[in-house]
Amino acid sequence: MGVDISSVGVRKSEERASRLGVKARFQVGDLRTCRLRHRVDVVLCSGALNNIPRRIRAARSEHFKASTAPGGINAMNADVPKPYIPPYSKNPYATPFRSGELLGYYGDREILDSRQVEFMSTASGVPYRKAMDMVVARKPRPGAH
Ligand SMILES: C[S@@+](CC[C@H](N)C(=O)[O-])C[C@H]1O[C@@H](n2cnc3c(N)ncnc32)[C@H](O)[C@@H]1O
Repeated sequence: MGVDISSVGVRKSEERASRLGVKARFQVGDLRTCRLRHRVDVVLCSGALNNIPRRIRAARSEHFKASTAPGGINAMNADVPKPYIPPYSKNPYATPFRSGELLGYYGDREILDSRQVEFMSTASGVPYRKAMDMVVARKPRPGAH
């Protein structure tokens, strides 16, 4: 199940999944408040975490981690501002992550990958440079060290 706060985002996701032959369901939902009712194997959040206000990010991370099955993965990324990259986003609700902030929410997880990446994004149709922190973390299975 995938969520996006906008029905346009949901439609885009449905179209992309169908183009790729991936069976997936999407619905309008708010990352700031949504509750996962069942444990899942993977929580993936790309390009949207910045829309969660900083004061509730720790609580939201705890919810996503608690909703992940043992052995399951969280794959997350977030925009991180750089002094040498002109800000692009005009979204008034987006708050940048501090460098390393994302990894900080996963101190109690096995980190499979953590890095900062810089690239040209073409998501909006106009290419622009951006930097992101990304983390792939695994929830340990009980008894595993
Ligand atoms: C940069 S796009 C990334 C879209 C998609 N996740 C991807 O990786 O291609 C950011 C998306 O976050 C969505 N968004 C913004 N605020 C949100 C919120 N509070 N809850 C869920 N989605 C939100 C926007 O509608 C937009 O589709």
